[in-house]
Amino acid sequence: MSNKNHHEKIERSVGLLAILTVVAISFGTLVLITPLFFMDEMTQPVDGMTPYTALELEGRDIYIREGCVGCHTQMIRPFRAEVERYGHYSVAGESVWDHPHLWGSKRTGPDLARVGARYSDDWHHAHLMDPRSVVPQSNMPAFPWLEENRLDGKLTARKMEVMRMFDIPYTDEDIATASESVKGKTEMQALIAYLQSLGTHLK
Ligand code: HEC
Repeated sequence: MSNKNHHEKIERSVGLLAILTVVAISFGTLVLITPLFFMDEMTQPVDGMTPYTALELEGRDIYIREGCVGCHTQMIRPFRAEVERYGHYSVAGESVWDHPHLWGSKRTGPDLARVGARYSDDWHHAHLMDPRSVVPQSNMPAFPWLEENRLDGKLTARKMEVMRMFDIPYTDEDIATASESVKGKTEMQALIAYLQSLGTHLK
């Protein structure tokens, strides 16, 4: 049978065409993705990375609870316009300890991957209490209750134990002191501590 006949047979049978298409795409995908699992650059933290402190970890959970990820990405793409605005593009080693990652996909507001240390704690405080007080044209909602709510620290140690199951190097001491170190702090303090840590590890 000539090549032409093979093709005709496949193209005339929708079922066979569908199956072979899936096989071809799956093979291509595997070839692209499989090597990534074995590259240190993709699976190891960047040099000098430290895990979130207990307070930052609590702040991260507040970021998730308040839906900040619905308006903000944490993923700077390697395009000139982004790198000039936000700084060095994001690398995989910066998010290997983030479970779940908060890369997001919607940018109503700016990317926050490197917002850490860009503003003072006071600026963040004013901004979260009333965004329009510092950015008049802002349409970001205010989050004043973060100032009222206080952390009780009851679950903090447990959260860190779970993170340790994902190979995040928390020491026994980190876990033993976790609850005490966050107890009584406001949710505002925790969220700001988290924001100030973002993107500061890549040298
Ligand atoms: C409805 C969309 C929306 C939500 C939800 C939202 N933001 Fe924003 N955010 C914005 C917009 C728009 C801006 C740009 C204007 C401004 O600076 O206020 C912004 C700006 C910011 C900035 C300043 C970034 C920079 O580089 O100037 C920070 C920090 C920030 N948001 C943090 C948060 C946090 C933390 C939360 C969750 C508690 C949150 N945002 C929730 C829309 C949103």
